[in-house]
Amino acid sequence: MLLEKHLDALASCVMQEALNLEAPPRAILRPTQDAKHGDFQINGAMALAKQLKKNPREIASPIAEAMLARDEVLEASVAGPGFINLRLDPKWVERLLASMLRDARDGVPEVEEKQTVVVDYSSPNIAKQMHVGHLRSTIIGAAICELLRFVGHDVIADNHIGDWGTQYGLLILGMREFGDQEALKRDAIVELERVYKIASAKKKEDEDFADRARAELAKLQKKDPDNYAMWEMFVETTRGVMDRVYDKLGVTFDHFLGESAYDDMLPAVVQQLKDAGIAREDNGAVCVFFNDDDIKNRLGKKFKKLGKQEVPFIIQKKDGAFLYSTSDIATVLYRREHFNSDRAVYVVDRRQGGHFQQLFAVMEILGEDMTLDHVGFGTVLGDDGKPLKTRDGGTVRLESLLDEAVERARNELEQRLADGKLRIAEHEMDEVSRAVGIGAVKYADLKQNRTSDYRFEWDKMISFSGNSGPYLQNQLVRTKSIFRKGEVELEGYEAPIALGHEREHSLARVMIKFPDVVHRAAALNEPHQIAEHLYDLAQAFSRFFTDCPVLKSEGETRASRLALTALTSQQLERGLRLLGIPVIDRM
Ligand code: ARG
Repeated sequence: MLLEKHLDALASCVMQEALNLEAPPRAILRPTQDAKHGDFQINGAMALAKQLKKNPREIASPIAEAMLARDEVLEASVAGPGFINLRLDPKWVERLLASMLRDARDGVPEVEEKQTVVVDYSSPNIAKQMHVGHLRSTIIGAAICELLRFVGHDVIADNHIGDWGTQYGLLILGMREFGDQEALKRDAIVELERVYKIASAKKKEDEDFADRARAELAKLQKKDPDNYAMWEMFVETTRGVMDRVYDKLGVTFDHFLGESAYDDMLPAVVQQLKDAGIAREDNGAVCVFFNDDDIKNRLGKKFKKLGKQEVPFIIQKKDGAFLYSTSDIATVLYRREHFNSDRAVYVVDRRQGGHFQQLFAVMEILGEDMTLDHVGFGTVLGDDGKPLKTRDGGTVRLESLLDEAVERARNELEQRLADGKLRIAEHEMDEVSRAVGIGAVKYADLKQNRTSDYRFEWDKMISFSGNSGPYLQNQLVRTKSIFRKGEVELEGYEAPIALGHEREHSLARVMIKFPDVVHRAAALNEPHQIAEHLYDLAQAFSRFFTDCPVLKSEGETRASRLALTALTSQQLERGLRLLGIPVIDRM
């Protein structure tokens, strides 16, 4: 059950009845900041009083009284200028928790309106090293896919790789003139990056070279067999590296529809935009000018601000070449037609915000009614507070970064083994190190509000205490080992819950929020809401476990505490899975 939604609807209904209103007013229910005042507060009485020209405390009082009569509520009191503080009835909470424990979905309902959602994420560029920005996109995108799927949407995971564009003319010519086949075999991306650097420098000072590169590009676009084969080789070798990274991360996609997949559509797209009077020629290029009067008038409310913008959206260059923007327009049209999608979510660096604003505005003028969301994220910073780089200023290779994470996790685990804090066999070390190392990197990223920048800090990330992946994995293992130690079957465990100790109430207070948190995280594309919940839960559990003996208590108390432990275990496991963090049984 979505508790907040349930209580909000209940409060609104109660307000209508208590005050004899024609329609249910807005209850504006919020969790209280401080548990001292209860669990939730109704803030709607103030606005309503204004409307009815009455004293807010006066109308709040019958509402509080009527709320008190409901099963859900133990205490309801008017406070301050007219808030109503509510404390839930523990008896009602106990039943709610028991129903969550029994439920295969842990009490999380599906959304009422199911959508088909394309999630566009990871999307690195061919012939280039993937950088940490792509790591963020991959980790956040995968978590969003899981969340959306869990709440009931049909999700299509699409990797929009950058595999097309003018750089391929340069790369083809460059490879022929200064490529080293041996180096290519050894490490294709390194060699392709080296060649590209030389070729693009040469282009700037050598007219003839630039012309020849353009000719190679034109041949590639006409699918000349030699050039096409070379391009395919670029794609294949880069895909090899990408796939190894995805494998390590445990991330999969339904499609790899890169920019090249839309190439055939581009001339028609430009024509369509010209015909619709959205784009026009300027100095030989074709652009959308958002400050043209006609376009300004056609911009929807959401995009009004763009009308002041001088920067046009270029969809075809003077030399006839199409751009990133052109293939993104084609992509929206393609997704609508082939996937019949209701929504597309672009998990892309926040710094591309301008591009997506323009793209979405163009699609709106074109009459596209698919919902388009740019889910932006901040930059990963190094120790110096600047974007993360290798010591010599290069791009950090994702593969070696992930290997380092696993290596560091292994060192940490071996230390714990030596200290007697770990109970795993030698042969489990590989698997556990991988789970801890990869989980640590993912969690460090996902716990951030995605729009902020964050510092990449190995020690905090791999630590078993504090707000880290290993800490949560370890708490989950603790819940499981309680059952193992007590020789009780965790799977399917059921017992009546009776809240007594203060620590039990605090734990319950966290647990009942889970369904709301999942829905909010999915609706806002904010995995960090799950991370925050899991950390609160783990801490509340830890306090409970310190003060309330579980296996050592008896009878109904023991059964109830085991049920609270089982529910904690269930939520931790579900949450970690939603975030794509490997779950371990022993550690
Ligand atoms: N390849 C782009 C980059 O590395 C990201 C593509 C994102 N997706 C899209 N449909 N534009 O910056």
